[in-house]
Amino acid sequence: MRDSPEGLAHLAELIRSRRSIDLFEPEPPGTERLLEAIELARWAPNHRLTEPWRFYVIGERTAAAIVDLAVEVERAAKGDAAAEARRRRWGAIPAFFVVTCMRSDDPLREREDYAACCCAVQNLMLYMWKSGLGVKWTTGAVTREPRFFEIVGIDADAESVVGLFWYGRPRVVPTQKRRDVGEIVVERP
Ligand SMILES: Cc1cc2nc3c(=O)[nH]c(=O)nc-3n(C[C@H](O)[C@H](O)[C@H](O)COP(=O)(O)O)c2cc1C
Repeated sequence: MRDSPEGLAHLAELIRSRRSIDLFEPEPPGTERLLEAIELARWAPNHRLTEPWRFYVIGERTAAAIVDLAVEVERAAKGDAAAEARRRRWGAIPAFFVVTCMRSDDPLREREDYAACCCAVQNLMLYMWKSGLGVKWTTGAVTREPRFFEIVGIDADAESVVGLFWYGRPRVVPTQKRRDVGEIVVERP
């Protein structure tokens, strides 16, 4: 599939402009775009066609329990003031989803499956971005809590958490930078 120069430039701009979003407009984004994005996520490359990804679309009740857990984790680590700050911050996240990866006894397969899940997540995030929705990928302490697995209903023996994702319409789009390409490319004859 070969695109026009304009099409290519649009794709490049989509990839370059996507940002991790921290601050969102308050309205709930709904799940329609997310479900479309998940349909696209699964077209990511995956070795041996293991399709190792699972997507948990989180409703209001589960989201509230996740926020409560995040607040309690913060309280235990840093005390009441930090916990209340976290409640304000996490209370402003319009919606969540969770991506997990099926575990394997084979370390190579597990590594390849995790890589495939990361490719799937990027597919998803780019589609969301193109539709006007921002996403933040998080892997903080909350995602390693046994209670988190219980709340979301993830079988910890069978799946590992790739991330807890925040999403919604961006209120602020941060700037980012990357190293020059010359610093990361090694050419060989
Ligand atoms: C595997 C993974 C885990 C991440 N976990 C967190 C996190 O826990 N908290 C956070 O603020 N950002 C997290 N991020 C987002 C990165 O901080 C972000 O991608 C980076 O700052 C570059 O910004 P950009 O995505 O806007 O280019 C994570 C990203 C990846 C790929």
